[in-house]
Amino acid sequence: MEHACIADLLDHPRVVETRNHLHHSIPKHDHMLRVARYSYFLAPLVGADRRTATRAAILHDLDSRLGTLATHGAIAARIAADLGEPPAVSEAIVSHMYPLGPRPTTREGWVLAVADKIASLTDLTTFVGGLFTGRSLAVRRHLCASDPFYAARTARRRRRAIISRIWRRTGRTGLSDSV
Ligand SMILES: [Fe+2]
Ligand SMILES: [Fe+2]
Repeated sequence: MEHACIADLLDHPRVVETRNHLHHSIPKHDHMLRVARYSYFLAPLVGADRRTATRAAILHDLDSRLGTLATHGAIAARIAADLGEPPAVSEAIVSHMYPLGPRPTTREGWVLAVADKIASLTDLTTFVGGLFTGRSLAVRRHLCASDPFYAARTARRRRRAIISRIWRRTGRTGLSDSV
């Protein structure tokens, strides 16, 4: 199975931490693992290297929030290189957002781009399915609290709300003082 190709990466802290990151309203780890599974099965069908495609898949969205839809592939590709992955892995990752990002130049790149699209659809149907049981929203709430990116955003919003409440209150007091 796909785990044999990526066992070391599944234990890597950069991958493990994605269990607490929000992506498509589900854990990012679930999304990347799904893409890895699809890449593992698709790769031999088009003559792509299975190991390269699967390793690219489990890393392809690392730090995606630091870029845009078009540029975050380049960010994850750099991380893959920093982790010691061969150039073919980064080359596949950089184009996974095609057609929003660059066009794939390798078979593994095409595999990843297609697997990512299919997995994104599956993410969505999984999320919608979980709405009926309440599980999807519970998981989303948990991830919003555990994901540093969203936790910081929530804290900023709370701070702004408190400041505007204080501002309104002192504004009213100021008005009543002047009457
Ligand atoms: Fe992505
Ligand atoms: Fe993705």
